[in-house]
Amino acid sequence: MKEQLERIRQEALEMLDAATDAQALENLRVKYLGKKGELTAVLKLMGKLSAEERPIMGQLANTVRADIEQKLAEAKAQVEAKALEARLLAETEDVTIPGVPVVMGHQHPMNMVLQEIKDIFVGMGYQVVDGPEVELASYNFTRLNIEEGHPSRDRSDTFYFDDKDEVLLRTQTSPMQIRYMETHTPPLCMLAPGRVFRKDEADATHSPMFHQIEGLVVAEDITMGDLKGALITIMQKIYGHDAQVRFRPHHFPFTEPSCEMDMQCHKCHGEGEVDGQICSTCHGEGWIELLGAGMVHPEVLRNCGIDPEKYSGFAFGIGLERTAMGRLKINDLRLIFDNDVRFLNQF
Ligand code: DAH
Repeated sequence: MKEQLERIRQEALEMLDAATDAQALENLRVKYLGKKGELTAVLKLMGKLSAEERPIMGQLANTVRADIEQKLAEAKAQVEAKALEARLLAETEDVTIPGVPVVMGHQHPMNMVLQEIKDIFVGMGYQVVDGPEVELASYNFTRLNIEEGHPSRDRSDTFYFDDKDEVLLRTQTSPMQIRYMETHTPPLCMLAPGRVFRKDEADATHSPMFHQIEGLVVAEDITMGDLKGALITIMQKIYGHDAQVRFRPHHFPFTEPSCEMDMQCHKCHGEGEVDGQICSTCHGEGWIELLGAGMVHPEVLRNCGIDPEKYSGFAFGIGLERTAMGRLKINDLRLIFDNDVRFLNQF
């Protein structure tokens, strides 16, 4: 019986050493220690032993059982540790693998320039306001002193919504002058950027939809000198101190006197031609018209309940796309609206 027990111990310990998974260990437990296991089978034979032998074999059987149980526990711990290690390895995420890059967009170049312009005017004390794109003819024309029959009211120039030509897509941001003066009292300083619409064919400097930035200053003793000072300051801030601009006399029904301001063409530098060809950006002019401006007409002030004997003011309407073209050296206005990412990504 002693040999039997020793054999069981040796065999069990060897088998447990070789086992690699939990199921194999459980099978071995049943095989050696289970109710129908080999050790139990040997113990059942104890009854046949002599009284002297019985306690000795009983003790031996207990140590064999204890040895196998200990080994089993060790092997189990080992198998579990290995399984855990394998699982951790399988579930590990490698945080050093480079991720999929996120393509970040940015502001449209025209809006970048608009933001720049707004910042400059806000710094000079202007309040930035927004207004309707669908406008009444009374605001867009009549109260701006633009009489019935004026060519800009023509259906070939303006998008109307109704038969009576009372509701339209605003053709300029100037109606914001009226809206602002209706709701504010002088001294006032307003900037109103926005979209405007005209029945224009698109070319290098025209588009049926474009953006203007309306400005209005009304207070006591405002002069044309204030107007020129404000506009030259802003142009120098946008284009640099050597910016070449010129003022030309012009006519607008809502200002008197009126002028336009041009900037020297950034493509031909005022030459009007490039490599012997007429400059396509300024159509050979050498200058690009950026804005209309003037001293607010007394009739317009009166239309808004402001006394022209006491107050005077200046107003201007800047073409945003053209200003952005010069600022960013863009040669064709249509690029601004095409939204080709190869173009947009350059800014
Ligand atoms: N609204 C004019 C246009 O679209 C531009 C303009 C001219 C605006 C003179 C003004 C101004 O405020 O005073 O052509």
